[in-house]
Amino acid sequence: MTRLAVIGAGSMGAQIAQQAALHGVDVRLQDVSQEQLDRALASNRALLQRRVDRGRLPAAELEPALARVRPAGDLPAAVSEADIVIEAIVERLDAKRDVFAELGRVAPAGAVLASNSSTMGISRLADATGRPDCCCNMHFFYPPLVMDLVEVVRGPETADETVDRAMAFAREMGRTPVLLRREIDGFIVNRILHMASQEAYRLLDAGVATFEDIDTAVEKGLNWPMGPFRLGDFSGLDVTYNARLHMYQTTGDERYRPSRQLEAKVRAGHLGRKTGRGWYEYPPEKG
Ligand SMILES: NC(=O)c1ccc[n+]([C@@H]2O[C@H](COP(=O)([O-])OP(=O)(O)OC[C@H]3O[C@@H](n4cnc5c(N)ncnc54)[C@H](O)[C@@H]3O)[C@@H](O)[C@H]2O)c1
Repeated sequence: MTRLAVIGAGSMGAQIAQQAALHGVDVRLQDVSQEQLDRALASNRALLQRRVDRGRLPAAELEPALARVRPAGDLPAAVSEADIVIEAIVERLDAKRDVFAELGRVAPAGAVLASNSSTMGISRLADATGRPDCCCNMHFFYPPLVMDLVEVVRGPETADETVDRAMAFAREMGRTPVLLRREIDGFIVNRILHMASQEAYRLLDAGVATFEDIDTAVEKGLNWPMGPFRLGDFSGLDVTYNARLHMYQTTGDERYRPSRQLEAKVRAGHLGRKTGRGWYEYPPEKG
């Protein structure tokens, strides 16, 4: 059985760790913030308890699955026995490079060193480790306890064995991997999503339809579970905005320029569900 270390216990890391633990994997989870680590474990408990309450997880599996995610006090302790490390810290190049440099120093020889970054191809991090052949992207989707896909992306120096192990591990933790044979901005899903949502924003900015009607058209006509505006609220409009800005700045392609209406929402702090208001309004849940 593979031993996993997850570095960063935010929205992604906490659930990646728990997803693997549900499939019997021993996980060490680490974060620079002890408070965040505590929150991650509490949130995983609440999510799994809800599954038990709904009859979707046998009650007897609850405590063992939670106990398989063990918090670690620092990175060396987290990775000391890891076969695979998944980095899921803040989306900042300098911070990620520091983590990868430390992984290069302390991770066991031969461990796969993966980044969950949505925007940074592994070639921007791998050289910091001194063992770029062991590095790749493993890009999960939010929320990782629900979303089935993992995009495994090989960098220019990634070894075949690293790719094979990352693909196999994604399956071991109950997820479906796809392989990108070379690095490309936005990987597969976000490239396609960006083009669809860019078109939705273009229709909105041109006054062709309301955002509600564009969502309805996409949901009923394409059978997508959420239209682009509802999905934006769900993911966080700041996340959508920053991803677009990144694509625009790195490609210079006008098609990626963030919509003015999206920018206005972000400036106003209307970021979607997490702030109670985005394109739609989300009254606080009662009780
Ligand atoms: N949120 C998404 O929808 C999503 C989807 C796919 C991929 N990602 C990627 O996952 C990564 C994490 O995103 P998130 O949404 O979970 O962010 P988040 O802000 O919720 O969590 C980041 C966590 O990293 C911790 N951290 C920061 N520096 C650290 C360090 N040096 N060592 C250990 N922990 C550190 C922070 O304390 C925080 O808890 C990013 O690279 C992002 O691109 C996010």
